[in-house]
Formats: sequence, structure tokens, C-alpha cells
Amino acid sequence: MSGSGDMHSELVALLLADHQEAKRLLERFDGLPASQRDEAFCEVTYELVRHEVAEEEVVYPALRRYVDGGDDTADVRIAEQSTAEQLLADMEKAGVESPEFPSMFATLRTDVLAHAEAEERTVFPELSSCIGADDLRQLATRYETAKKAATAHPHPHAPDTPPGNLLLGPVAAVVDRVRDAVRGVRT
Ligand SMILES: [Fe+2]
Repeated sequence: MSGSGDMHSELVALLLADHQEAKRLLERFDGLPASQRDEAFCEVTYELVRHEVAEEEVVYPALRRYVDGGDDTADVRIAEQSTAEQLLADMEKAGVESPEFPSMFATLRTDVLAHAEAEERTVFPELSSCIGADDLRQLATRYETAKKAATAHPHPHAPDTPPGNLLLGPVAAVVDRVRDAVRGVRT
């Protein structure tokens, strides 16, 4: 009904900025020297997980609540996110130097970009057009706060540390840690 009236709501602008950053990290990976790939993979993992969990906690519940047919869309998109998280876990287990890693990374990139495109085409316009301006502003604040809370948790990189994944830990643990941080946020 009455959306924000803007071309993009602030919430959608935040989500699009995350997508741009994810695309940048995914697209630069192949050009990196082998010595930087471990840390770059950790960065990709962390950025994707933080974004996906914040979406699952803030954005998709709003889609279910405010948008006709939102439940079905949310189920499909969240299933894609779970598949990506599983792939990240498999990639971590295989290791960046394993022979299968490049094709796993290519699959991740293709899947994540297709998922992001589907969100941009269907989910984001529906959020902007079906949710009132005040609610959209609140969602944007919650989304930003949730992401910040997740950032406050130990970050995988510091310049003088051993390969990032030693600090990042198993992907499943990162997902749990980020989810706990995001759920701890009540605005
Ligand atoms: Fe997204």
C-alpha cells in the first residue's frame, strides 16, 4: 500500500550496499595470489554470513508479515541461504589449497549472485512498496544495529595473525555467533 515513496527505501539501500560488497569480494577472489586466498575466503564467509543472518532475522520476518505470498518467497530464499552456508562449510573443510576448492568457489559465486539478483528483483521492491515508511525506517535501524552487533564479535582478521580461518572457526560456529549477536539486538 503506502510505501516510502522513494525509489529505494533506506532499508533496501543498506541491503543493496551489502550485495555490492559481496559481489566485489566474490569477483576479486580468482585474481588474488595464493597467499591471500585463505584470508579472502574468511572475509567472504564473514560478510555473507553476517548479511544473511541479519536478513533472516530482520528482513524475511517483515516479508512474511507484510507482503502477500511473502511466506513462500521467504522459504525459497532462506533455503538458498542455507545451501550457501552448507557450501561454505564444505569449502572450509576442503581448504583453499585443495584441488576441488576452485570449482566449489565458482559454484558459490554463481549461486550467491543468482540469489542476490532474485532478492533484488522480487523481495526488495515488495518490501519498499508494501511496508509503510515508518516501519521501513524501523527495519532499517534494526538491520543496521543487528549487523553492527555481529561486527562487535571477534573479527577474523588482524594484520599480525595466522591464517584467518584459525580465528574464524568452523562456519557453523560463525553462523551461530552472528545469530546470537543479532538476536540480542532489540531496538
Ligand atoms: Fe541479500
